[in-house]
Amino acid sequence: MLDVERIRRDFPILRTGVIYMDSAASSLTPEPVLDKMMEFYHRYRANVDRGIHQLSQKASEEYELAHRKVAQFLNAKSEEEVVMTRNTTEGLNIVANGLKWKKGDKIVTTLMDHHSNFIIWQRVQQRYGAKLEAIKPDGQGLFDLADFERAIDDSTRVVAIPHVSNALGTIVPIRDISQIAARRGALTVVDGAQSVPHMRGDVREIGCDFLAFSGHKMCGPTGSGALYMKKEVATEVEPTFIGGGTIQDVSPDEFKLTSGWHRFEAGTPAIAEGIGLGRAVDYLTQLGMENVRAHEVELGKAIYEGLRQIPKVRVYGPADSRNRVALVSFNVGDLNPHDVALALDVSKKIMIRSGHHCALPTMKEVIHSDGTARASLYIYNTADEVEAFLSTVEEIARSLA
Ligand code: ALA
Repeated sequence: MLDVERIRRDFPILRTGVIYMDSAASSLTPEPVLDKMMEFYHRYRANVDRGIHQLSQKASEEYELAHRKVAQFLNAKSEEEVVMTRNTTEGLNIVANGLKWKKGDKIVTTLMDHHSNFIIWQRVQQRYGAKLEAIKPDGQGLFDLADFERAIDDSTRVVAIPHVSNALGTIVPIRDISQIAARRGALTVVDGAQSVPHMRGDVREIGCDFLAFSGHKMCGPTGSGALYMKKEVATEVEPTFIGGGTIQDVSPDEFKLTSGWHRFEAGTPAIAEGIGLGRAVDYLTQLGMENVRAHEVELGKAIYEGLRQIPKVRVYGPADSRNRVALVSFNVGDLNPHDVALALDVSKKIMIRSGHHCALPTMKEVIHSDGTARASLYIYNTADEVEAFLSTVEEIARSLA
């Protein structure tokens, strides 16, 4: 069980009376994470892996430790498999732009992917003549595995899938899909932006080759994220950026890149952000990811069921809470979702996201809507906040003729 009242004390922004239900866009950041970043600036502010002096040594140790913490959090084999990035999008781009493509290579993705795990593959299609197939889920975002069995063939290089839909909240059976991909010799690239902050993510159990996520959606600082790259396939990816910190040797005629995460982190990295992400991982680990998930299942059920009971409200995503995270997309009559979001903010300081959620294929092809209002919950949300949200949506719905 999460001690939510205790957790809330770590987030001073909540004392202003806001009800924050937009954690899928970016979570709030707790004091211990901010303190850890300030510790770097106050006590060992220096570059990493470039100095022999004690400040640089300490900063390097802390930065490397952050890689190790992320590796342990994901159950990767070692920190060498963890590249620090700014966000999920950067991690996915590293993979798409770094693989060597040839005409006819096939990419299998889905119509439930965020643009960041969709247009990067469309660009590979345009640039190199790759074939692209996007699998369509049903109206709730649930897939038929037979579609992946059929689509993934011997020419498939990459299977790119979301772990959780940022638009519908649906959990995707990525372990089953990774197994199908592995049987055909394809690489699995997982967008973990909406799963890693909310549930235990074990890359070895999942069996994926790459998994990208954002630190800023899981109590970390903005500008933090990571990409897991399975050791056995990391050399298939050519780094987009090279330079200081990425080399083993350089002579006037040639250079040799180093291995592991250093190969992909060119130039001075976002040191405070990386260290902050490591502290965010500790914060969540101390809470226990099973407890985080249990709390969110409970709130997720309340918000989903509550919305379904309000006349004129249309709710999207799967009915069964086992297939869902605490994120719910909805519309109120014919109201523009931005107006719904604005009304929630103005009347009760409730913050939600509205629009297409960077998932236009999902909007157009799966739920046939121009956009939705979306409430996404996290460790600091309470049952009382869900009640306040539901009664305000009810008022908005009642105001419709
Ligand atoms: N991808 C983030 C979201 O779904 C920004 O809101």
